Amino acid sequence: MLLLISCQTTPQAQTTPSTAQPTAVASPSGELSAYPAQLPPLPYEYGALAKVIDAETMKLHHDRHHATYVENLNEALKPQTNLQNRSVEALLRDLNSVPEEIRTKVRDNGGGHLNHTIFWQIMTPDGSGQPTGAIAQAINQTFGSFDNFRKQFNEAGGDRFGSGWVWLVRNPQGQLQLTTTPNQDNPIMNGNFPILGNDVWEHAYYLRYQNRRAEYLDNWWNVVNWQEVNRRFQLASQQ
Ligand SMILES: [Fe+2]
Repeated sequence: MLLLISCQTTPQAQTTPSTAQPTAVASPSGELSAYPAQLPPLPYEYGALAKVIDAETMKLHHDRHHATYVENLNEALKPQTNLQNRSVEALLRDLNSVPEEIRTKVRDNGGGHLNHTIFWQIMTPDGSGQPTGAIAQAINQTFGSFDNFRKQFNEAGGDRFGSGWVWLVRNPQGQLQLTTTPNQDNPIMNGNFPILGNDVWEHAYYLRYQNRRAEYLDNWWNVVNWQEVNRRFQLASQQ
């Protein structure tokens, strides 16, 4: 069985030519504006996902944490007129072109803005807990079954030391792959297209689950928006 798990632990971003990268990672309407960066509204009420994530966590997560990434990105780019027309994705794919004095700030806050923008979209109050459509079939082909995939995803998320994300990506070879990223790094920094990702920072779950990350990871599947995940899978396959 093909088991593909990789962890991005190197402190330096790996970049690949932007021409080889897929576009519209965060939104069907195009890449994410870096300047001005804007906090997107939640696509549901704060309490809509309460079967998995409580309203207070959602409010803090969106209105404070995500908002702070947006504010910090704008602050970093304010004096950088030559970078202001570039998308968040373009900046993250080519971090070496960002001046060193703001590189970490762009990496952390641009990544935080992109990751959370995707995250809100791939959740829904109407989650069934089971995948549908083409992604369900692709998961079965790659991981044997959804149960196997979910188990491996949850283990990878549990093993991510400290703060970070666990992802299902399409790698440059066109395969589905599990991966994790530290901090707010996004898979596009390594040439992978993020199809599905879960936030394993403590701020995502601590109020309800305290230190029980595994329980949060397990419950989270009940709010996954498989319609949106299928849209992302189709987009990834077209690149
Ligand atoms: Fe978060």
